[in-house]
Amino acid sequence: MTETSDQTPLAGKVAVITGGARGQGRSHAVELARLGADIAVCDLCRDVASVGYPLATGEDLGETARLVADQGRRCIPTVADVRDLDAMVAFVDGVRAELGSVDILVANAGVSTLGSICTMGAAEWSETIDINLTGVFNAMRAAAPHMRRQRWGRIIGISSMMGRSANPGIPAYTASKWGVIGLCKSVALELAGDGVTVNAVAPGNVSTPMIHNEALYRLMRPDLDHPAREDVAPAMAGLHVQPVPWIEPEEITAAVVFLVSEGARHITGSVIDVDAGASARFTG
Ligand SMILES: NC(=O)c1ccc[n+]([C@@H]2O[C@H](COP(=O)([O-])OP(=O)(O)OC[C@H]3O[C@@H](n4cnc5c(N)ncnc54)[C@H](O)[C@@H]3O)[C@@H](O)[C@H]2O)c1
Repeated sequence: MTETSDQTPLAGKVAVITGGARGQGRSHAVELARLGADIAVCDLCRDVASVGYPLATGEDLGETARLVADQGRRCIPTVADVRDLDAMVAFVDGVRAELGSVDILVANAGVSTLGSICTMGAAEWSETIDINLTGVFNAMRAAAPHMRRQRWGRIIGISSMMGRSANPGIPAYTASKWGVIGLCKSVALELAGDGVTVNAVAPGNVSTPMIHNEALYRLMRPDLDHPAREDVAPAMAGLHVQPVPWIEPEEITAAVVFLVSEGARHITGSVIDVDAGASARFTG
């Protein structure tokens, strides 16, 4: 048994994070490592045709691995597509073989697509649903058998404030993120007797390449030829209640850290909104 301490409460645990090459996934990886966990991250490391901004690269994935190693923890960086169930099972089984267990899953990989219901093509719809919803299922399907066998596990699905509400022009993303919450609740009920908790985190606008890109800036400011960060900030803040346009990845990580802690062992099937108050408008 690995000794834990106040500084390393996750020592001896292994965390799997999908979409961990950059953004929120990288933040989760580095902080869980700082708290003592060994880490496995996967990422697609190439672009997807219907996504209007660049996804992470192999260099990004290598940088996450370097930052985890800086925390003195082991890291397995893998290029894998969450849409591919066989690849996810091979990845997670490999993590179990190399690092000894699979204790934490943060199903974080996702893409954001924009488009009207009158023009959106089949590929745009299915790429979003396949990555954001089926990808979460695939990661859970790969990790859950290990957790059930261990009789301990923490699964976190990353939804969105768009999984709790809706906006026009983003139908596939919205549907996928509502789906993540339903998926988490169903799996939470199934694994409740096995020492495995399953929860969702629903972020507001988070300062990552998913929102800081030209396609989204143009949607928010169609009146400008080349909208910049400061041009979209007021509209972004309007999606929140607290007067901030976006929040930092580390603030989402704080919710993830809470959900994997022993203090959260009796929280399952829940959603934590980290959205600068937005959910006060639309959740019961
Ligand atoms: N940024 C926001 O405002 C925001 C708000 C709410 C929810 N989210 C959600 O948070 C999660 C993390 O997003 P982020 O903000 O860090 O954006 P990001 O684009 O920086 O990170 C997403 C990561 O997922 C990876 N990815 C995409 N498709 C993949 C696939 N098929 N297989 C494996 N990896 C894949 C990307 O390469 C990228 O590294 C996503 O699920 C996103 O939908 C983001």
